[in-house]
Amino acid sequence: MQQPHTQQIQTQQPIGIGLAGLGNVGAGVFKHLQSKRTLLRERLGLDLEVRKVAVRDRVRRAAEGFPEAILTERWQDLVEDPEVRIVVEVMGRKEESLALILESIARKKIVVTANKALLAEYGREIFEAATLHGVPVFYEAAVGGGIPIIKALREALVGNHIVSIHGIINGTSNYILTRMQEAGLSFPQALEEAQALGYAEPDPAADVNGWDAAHKAIILASLAYGFWIPADKIYVEGIESLTASDFRFARELGYGIKLLGIIKAASDTQGAAIEVRVHPTLVPEKHVLASVNGVFNAVAVKGNVVGDTLFYGRGAGQDPTSSAILSDIAEAAEALQYPRRNLGFMPHGLYGSCKPLDEILSEYFLQLCVEDRPGVIAQVAGILGELNVGISSIFQPEAEAEGATVPLVMMIHTASHAQMRMALDRIGALECVRKTPRMIRVEHFS
Ligand code: HSE
Repeated sequence: MQQPHTQQIQTQQPIGIGLAGLGNVGAGVFKHLQSKRTLLRERLGLDLEVRKVAVRDRVRRAAEGFPEAILTERWQDLVEDPEVRIVVEVMGRKEESLALILESIARKKIVVTANKALLAEYGREIFEAATLHGVPVFYEAAVGGGIPIIKALREALVGNHIVSIHGIINGTSNYILTRMQEAGLSFPQALEEAQALGYAEPDPAADVNGWDAAHKAIILASLAYGFWIPADKIYVEGIESLTASDFRFARELGYGIKLLGIIKAASDTQGAAIEVRVHPTLVPEKHVLASVNGVFNAVAVKGNVVGDTLFYGRGAGQDPTSSAILSDIAEAAEALQYPRRNLGFMPHGLYGSCKPLDEILSEYFLQLCVEDRPGVIAQVAGILGELNVGISSIFQPEAEAEGATVPLVMMIHTASHAQMRMALDRIGALECVRKTPRMIRVEHFS
């Protein structure tokens, strides 16, 4: 049992932190480690001190007011300093970040990282090294910014089989979709607005093509199901091709459109395949995720003991991300005092495989541009019927007719990706169908 005097000794010997990166997030972590040092000391009984900060340009950072004595342009200086016990990686790079993390682990320094792309690609290697050396790696800031979703999955829901996770986990795309939905903007207009407001990067590719969300979905799924999900086994579709008419027709039917990360396991039995996908999704307007707007993130987790849970907050930004990193640093400091078995990711391999895309089931929204003449619906419905695909509703908004064509909008009952792929190939080839069919998946959260 912990003796009171032990804590006193610990408070006299600060735990050294090496901070790699002093960009927006790194500067926030530095700032809050100073401003919350007393609070953290009181809560943890441990004193945390930034001993070294790795930066690209030491002179520039010193001129900005960061203490020159602790700045270095070599990340290796953090790793080589025996007094640095916790390494915080917020450089957000690939090779250098991976080298820093693996070197730190090899020297038994606890790692905290926000690098979702790196974890999604190298999570397996990183945690093999962590297991080999018995060193934890924490990554709360990698998913959902300030939302404590990693600790929730790892700790609070540890007694649950995770039935499903539905996440709005990219704030940039959620802002764009919110503006398309609420103001009727086109995708380019909404993107331009997001860039002007600083919600989208000058190069917005990863945010709008779905891959930023996909990296986060891979991390959540890996944590939930105990093995690192290979990126080539998941389905990823971005928001770039959504149109104002998708939103108009979806609204007519009582739906909004969100970019969702969807993670599901068919059962909790050994060998059950899991599915991980990121794509625009029709969400019923009455579902709570439909009201998550702007840059906010939300993750709905269904556990087979707890039932439905919801986590909401800011998924990006200096302060929310710093909050998550401070919690990891606090956990790392505790782990230095008391060795632990869970190193941040506990492989349990209950499931071990991903469902092939063709077998993934969903409901669908279809939008066709068809000739406005008798027999067209019969041709389309005939193809769907032959492929055993059921239509749940159909409407033809005459007000949107353009010349001799009119939109045909259909809601499709649950079908596999393979069925829909075949159906769209055949429907798209019909003479009466004038444009490539548009298909968006629908989620009813049942
Ligand atoms: N660009 C991301 C987003 C934040 O828009 O959510 C960092 O992952």
